[in-house]
Amino acid sequence: METEIINLLKKENKLSDNTIEEIQNINIDDFSNIVKEIGKQETDHINAEEISKDLNTEYIGKNLYVFKEVNSTNTLARFLSMNDAEMGTVIISEKQTKAKGRSGKSWESPLGGVWLSIIINPSVDYSKIPLITLATGVAVAKTLEKIGVENPEIKWPNDIMINGKKVCGILTEAVTKLNTIENVIIGVGIDANLNVSDFPEELQEGTTTLKEELHKEGNENKLIQLFLEEFEKINELFNEKEYEVILKEWRKRSYSIGKIVEVREPFNTYYDAYVLGISKDGALIVEKIDGTLEKVISGECIIKN
Ligand code: BTN
Repeated sequence: METEIINLLKKENKLSDNTIEEIQNINIDDFSNIVKEIGKQETDHINAEEISKDLNTEYIGKNLYVFKEVNSTNTLARFLSMNDAEMGTVIISEKQTKAKGRSGKSWESPLGGVWLSIIINPSVDYSKIPLITLATGVAVAKTLEKIGVENPEIKWPNDIMINGKKVCGILTEAVTKLNTIENVIIGVGIDANLNVSDFPEELQEGTTTLKEELHKEGNENKLIQLFLEEFEKINELFNEKEYEVILKEWRKRSYSIGKIVEVREPFNTYYDAYVLGISKDGALIVEKIDGTLEKVISGECIIKN
């Protein structure tokens, strides 16, 4: 990860090319201060001031860093979170060159999308992490409803769909120390002001964008502001342990419940099943062809009907 931070600093001319000595002399706090400094510089498309102007939150996005290009906002957020970044810090980048998707996949992040990560530090154990992801999905869906998307749906666990096509993905990562969760990084990628043709051919069939669904370009700053507000509201419900309220909102927008899916669990266990619902802990409950019930905690579900 440090290499990625160093590359960012080099690109921004914060380090010269003969850097080895230079780097050895910089301590980690200085590193993160330089990164924060770069994140306060002016950017071309996303405007931190515009986002902050009407931002109605207590703590989410109060520290906001916007970059022109980074490898991955999640990677940067993880780095900053290990160096005392405040709860609710938001990292945004206009472009990402090595963005991470779920299950070790990469994530296309051209200019025009909304690529951001939020640092939170909930005092919960691992079993509650899937719920944070579901909650984030609800926050994205509510944001899209606010900007006029008619029926955004959530495909378990965290794909936001419009008319059966994916418009947003969420990647949650825990930062741990001695087996306890220090921070959680929530990465959100929304295909906002993009055309489907901006994506590689193999992704185009299952992808949509806000611009294409709403037939117009939208204001990315406003979209981010609305999302951060929705996120804080749902994060508060999460902190108050109002899990049922979150799950109810999720179920209302579920794309998965009632469908036949191919479940692809890690370590290559694949089977067909009917989706019955989600459990209290955010797992998918499915009925297999032989009538047995399964709880799917992680993996993918490919919709078959
Ligand atoms: C998925 O595979 O559906 C999850 C995609 C998550 C992408 C976002 S974009 C912002 C953040 N930074 C990353 O590297 N990934 C997440």
